[in-house]
Amino acid sequence: MKYDLLVFNIGQLILPDGNSGPQKGKNMAQLNIMEDAAFAVQDEKIAWIGASKEAVGLSAKEEKDAGGKVVSPGLVDPHTHLVFGGSREHELGMKQAGMGYLDILANGGGILSTVDATREASEEELFEKASFHLERMISHGVTTVEAKSGYGLDSATELKQLKVAKRLKEVYPVDMVSTFLGPHAVPPAYKGREEEFLQEMILLLDVIRSAGLAEFADIFCETGVFSIEQSRQFMQTAKDKGFGLKIHADEIDPLGGAELAASLGAASADHLVAASDEGIQKLAENGTVAVLLPGTTFYLGKDQFARARKMIEEGVAVALATDFNPGSCVTENLQLIMSLAALKLKMSAEEIWNAVTVNAAYAIGRGGEAGVLEIGKSASFVVWDVPNYQYIPYHYGVNHAESVFAGGKKVWE
Ligand code: NIG
Ligand code: FE
Repeated sequence: MKYDLLVFNIGQLILPDGNSGPQKGKNMAQLNIMEDAAFAVQDEKIAWIGASKEAVGLSAKEEKDAGGKVVSPGLVDPHTHLVFGGSREHELGMKQAGMGYLDILANGGGILSTVDATREASEEELFEKASFHLERMISHGVTTVEAKSGYGLDSATELKQLKVAKRLKEVYPVDMVSTFLGPHAVPPAYKGREEEFLQEMILLLDVIRSAGLAEFADIFCETGVFSIEQSRQFMQTAKDKGFGLKIHADEIDPLGGAELAASLGAASADHLVAASDEGIQKLAENGTVAVLLPGTTFYLGKDQFARARKMIEEGVAVALATDFNPGSCVTENLQLIMSLAALKLKMSAEEIWNAVTVNAAYAIGRGGEAGVLEIGKSASFVVWDVPNYQYIPYHYGVNHAESVFAGGKKVWE
């Protein structure tokens, strides 16, 4: 038997367990580490895992000496706004002058400024720009990416964004999961007619579903954006039409988005900085993954971060994501988010690794498939130029990935 690829001399092989659902609560501290390990790849899948010394007798078309370094599954980024036009560096000054995120939005800036730029951009331009950002994500060790629409707020532009994500999925060897976030803001033209706008986004669900353009539906439930009742209406309809559910919940004000997500069986509730005790309990009871975005809290200049410790104590499955977008978190680097999770969310290295692998996969319908290294599963993995798995959250702001493989093929080095 000649394998396609043999990776040997791995100092620490990180083997998160994704077989029995996401790691919840205290189980998040469980992380399997195999020392002096090796594995073999056949037909894009993991075919053998064992001790490095057992690998000596195996033959493969290609061999990779990991040099005693760390190897993990490809990271999963379960919340990004990857496809958009323009950029918003001009808002930095407004932020420094004390203007809040929702104030900038209420004045036609923020999300709405990106909506203008996204409407103006051609599909080709959006594709080129999103490719640039996606390649940077891959270079930082990510092999599964969720991407939301939400900068169109009209049917033509929302569909344009989703088509770009579909094309990215076809062109790049990584897995992409698309989410329709039509109700991301109310366009100025609909001021006072918010209900009408929401109904238009609800009508779009059928078009998107039949074109196979998104697996999930998402809404920005926040003061001055969409209320709990509006969010319930949108999410319930999306669920009835076969979408998985997500929600931008309790980011700034505790409206009860976590409770809503849990009651509707959402795959994830995201942000949750202001989630109530009851909301946290409901997430735990219903198995809704909490996708925490500490890069956003940091970038918005806030002191209050999501209560990850409380969530873990209560039994919630916590995942981490970049929230990469042009306004509230402008970074493609999930490793940086791992450091913020350590410092600001007080998560342990083991919890962080589970949060960016198996739990992130469950948040986007790829549970047990992405974020794991197991026989029969996709050979998507990262060789990290670090001495141990605790090192990545510790040494922050740089890229530790030495090489990145998706489906057994090298996609970055
Ligand atoms: O997840 N909170 C709403 N939506 C995005 C930000 C989008 C933007 O500012 O462009 C978020 O942070
Ligand atoms: Fe977001």
